[in-house]
Amino acid sequence: MRFDKLGHTCVVGLQWGDEGKGKIVDAMVEHFDVVVRFSGGANAGHTIVFDGKKFALHQLPSGVLRDNVISIIGCGAVVDPAVLLGEVESLRQRRINVGDRLRISDRCQLVFPYHRRQDILAEKIAPPGGKIGTTARGSGPCYADKVSRRWGIRLCELYRPDQLRERLTSIVAHKNAYLAALYDDRDPFDPSAITDEYLAFAEQLRPFVCDVAVELAEHIREGRRILFEGAQGSLLDIDHGTYPFVTSASTGVGGVAGGAGVPPSTISSTIGVIKAYTTRVGEGPFPTELSDSIGNSIRERGKEFGTTTGRPRRCGWFDAVATSYAVTVAGPRYLALMHLDTLSGFDELKICIGYRRGKETLNNFPADAYTLAEVEPVYETLEGWREDLSECRRVKDLPPRARAYVKEIGRRVGVEVGIISVGPARDQTIYVKGGV
Ligand code: GDP
Ligand code: IMO
Ligand code: MG
Repeated sequence: MRFDKLGHTCVVGLQWGDEGKGKIVDAMVEHFDVVVRFSGGANAGHTIVFDGKKFALHQLPSGVLRDNVISIIGCGAVVDPAVLLGEVESLRQRRINVGDRLRISDRCQLVFPYHRRQDILAEKIAPPGGKIGTTARGSGPCYADKVSRRWGIRLCELYRPDQLRERLTSIVAHKNAYLAALYDDRDPFDPSAITDEYLAFAEQLRPFVCDVAVELAEHIREGRRILFEGAQGSLLDIDHGTYPFVTSASTGVGGVAGGAGVPPSTISSTIGVIKAYTTRVGEGPFPTELSDSIGNSIRERGKEFGTTTGRPRRCGWFDAVATSYAVTVAGPRYLALMHLDTLSGFDELKICIGYRRGKETLNNFPADAYTLAEVEPVYETLEGWREDLSECRRVKDLPPRARAYVKEIGRRVGVEVGIISVGPARDQTIYVKGGV
């Protein structure tokens, strides 16, 4: 793949999140000037490893670790100021100064403590089968308040202190009544304390706040190259994902223009990030899930534990049907195939190429999550390889069976594999030139 031909590029996950977007954005960012997060909030967890150091970013774009890159949070993201400022501070302690390289949209919706509690309590009283398995970061309730219009508060409102106090007084009274009535919550929030806390955040955030649409237009005019960093994954998208077992935002390419504030024609290429197998955290259907020793082995070898919650990730074989659907919606130019190293040591590997439901064969990824829960995967089997891949840096360093596996994934989902990742570190990356 050629970076100079990509133009402004969007990186999105094509599975259920945690595909390795953080690593790929960090690895690619030297070819770009600006990185923009356009959706999600502190529910995201993007891991970056370089020089033996590991960083887990939730709110901040993965460009912040590079000195010469501008990092932007667009209005499609929700911002928990406590998490964001905590991240800025913890980076400062590790000698990374975010300084004036961070910009946050004045239109971002803010996450409040009542959102986090609402997230937890709603899960607690969910009826059997009704749990989503959220990250409990308050993102869903915050997005719900945003679209309700009555209860959402945006970053720009922090700079109208009297109005903020008045609005929070009525919103917190509503939230207290709601939490008490629905969840029997007996620990009401104090609107005055929340207002004071958020007014203090306002001062700390002030240097970063701007009109992101205007700034991005300027960057584009001045010829800077922009990398849009997706959060979550296409199968967690509020519209295209396995609803209701999804996140509350447009996680895919469709979310970029609105969530960043750029014309859709700005995005010239998309890189779709996939793992060489599949993982999912939280509830929801997962046809290729392996609840056996193979699944455990993938979890152990791939260190598949949530970056945000530490929960063990559910692991299974690569699902070409689900990923092909994500490809249909996202239209990626290239795939970045992650964690190929994790699959070393298996005698055989399986790829799901169809679904069966009773006597019926499904050719498409069903809209209905409850139908998806009833399907049986149809597999093709490929030979595994034993070699350690973590030192491979060129396609020709990969054993033939690993190359055959990569080729088959590209063929099944109909997209060229442009990047192969063989470890968490920046340099454990193979840029494919001239095919696999
Ligand atoms: P994201 O949310 O898409 O950014 O992904 P996460 O950071 O939540 O999860 C991906 C995990 O896999 C992180 O722990 C990464 O350090 C790790 N990782 C990324 N790429 C590779 C890879 O190619 N091989 C291995 N072994 N680990 C990887
Ligand atoms: P990154 O950006 C994986 C999942 C949760 C849950 C559902 C809803 O690191 O890939 P939410 O807290 O958003 O209301 O949870 O979505 N989920 C993720 N899974 N990676 C993520 O982000 C996720 N963000 C949310 O586990 O199933
Ligand atoms: Mg993650």
